[in-house]
Amino acid sequence: MTNHVSLPGFRDFYPHDLAVRSHIMTAWRDVARRYGFEEYDGPPLEQLELYIEKSGEEIVRQLYNFEDKGGRAVALRPEMTPTLARMVGARAGSLRKPIRWFSVPQLFRYERTQRGRLREHYQWNVDIIGEDDIAADAEVLAVALDALRTLGLGAGDIVARYNDRRLLEALLLHAGVAPDRLLATYAVIDKIGRDSMDRSRARFAEEAGLVDTAIDAVLALFGADAALADLRVSHASNEDVMLGIERLERYEQRLHALGLSDFIRFDPSIVRGLAYYTGTVFEIFDRRGELRAICGGGRYDRLLASVSSADLPAAGFGMGDVVLTELLRDRNLLPDGRQFVDTYIIALSETEQPLMLQVAQSLRARGESVMYALRSAAVGKQIKDADARGAARVILLGPEEVERGMATVRLMATGEQHDVSLDSLTSDRIAATS
Ligand code: HAM
Repeated sequence: MTNHVSLPGFRDFYPHDLAVRSHIMTAWRDVARRYGFEEYDGPPLEQLELYIEKSGEEIVRQLYNFEDKGGRAVALRPEMTPTLARMVGARAGSLRKPIRWFSVPQLFRYERTQRGRLREHYQWNVDIIGEDDIAADAEVLAVALDALRTLGLGAGDIVARYNDRRLLEALLLHAGVAPDRLLATYAVIDKIGRDSMDRSRARFAEEAGLVDTAIDAVLALFGADAALADLRVSHASNEDVMLGIERLERYEQRLHALGLSDFIRFDPSIVRGLAYYTGTVFEIFDRRGELRAICGGGRYDRLLASVSSADLPAAGFGMGDVVLTELLRDRNLLPDGRQFVDTYIIALSETEQPLMLQVAQSLRARGESVMYALRSAAVGKQIKDADARGAARVILLGPEEVERGMATVRLMATGEQHDVSLDSLTSDRIAATS
């Protein structure tokens, strides 16, 4: 017999793992609602077309694509943004703008599996469509940071690094990069943190075709203490750079006013790997730099027009569950995932079984979680089972108590016991002493 295992990069969610996933998703949904976002979903399988050219080379290489039985070229969704653009585009006329939507899709990418990278993951997507003001860019970053704060992470644990592709473009042109070499230059900059300095120099020359003086000028932009104030001085006469700086300063002001100053940092080397970003871009990292990005996003003003007849500006982000779970585990911020039930009922003999089921149903009707043994066993064994399943209290139904119209309640945390009337357990009113 073969013992089957799951595919590499795909996870089984045992109840303990699912409790962790639910904990994260509950925070995501709560925070999205706090900011007035509505939840949507789309199909997990889309036309292959939707991703070609829109998402960029890296994602297309990682697609799970095949021909379906009707001969259509299809792909499992590797990201949500093209689906969102398609859905909004189809009904753009009738939707109230700006559109504030969120989703928690499972996504599929055929990646080389490693720490923080799997072949499926859940990704919280939060997007604002139909607003081109930088206020929308700041709003989505605030949502992302607030969710991480809600999960217990502080400014000592995480940092959002942001940039603006419009500013970066102006800086690169000023540094001597030709307009047709910009995209190739972005691709090298995107990996600058991961590659060594020599490797980056070589890649700038080979892949982006930059000459030595341009490489020096580009690398000079990415010092550890890069600051907008310094760029203001060094590029005072460059109008495009100045415009880019002013935009980012307004972004910063809003984030400061939202109380997030300690969580954000300008970083001109943030470009993001996806092809469709046109403005601000950001990534959230753990401060110790041990993990890959927890979250990434930015402004993409041309994607809707490329998949639909609606031409709407947009900004948003995706936050994955994999890296986040690792970070929360490292910081001891995950729930223990143990089962919990409110009440475990024990019938001391066969005679009390029907009463046990009646009590269970009436407590369940009040919203309590209730369980009992499915086959008779010694009381001691049942109490142990109640404990192992995280019961808060045990209700004991014995012949003598039932005769008096009573039941015994044991609080599992303290072992304290008291009697309650059966009436209070089976009637619709809430038991006064439980
Ligand atoms: P992305 O940077 O490709 O952006 O993914 C966002 C986040 O999803 C990453 O920072 C990471 O936490 C997680 N993630 C991505 N791939 C994997 C993987 N193979 N395994 C585990 N986690 C992963 C996007 O997908 C954009 N569509 C986000 C967006 C929405 N931009 C605007 N709106």
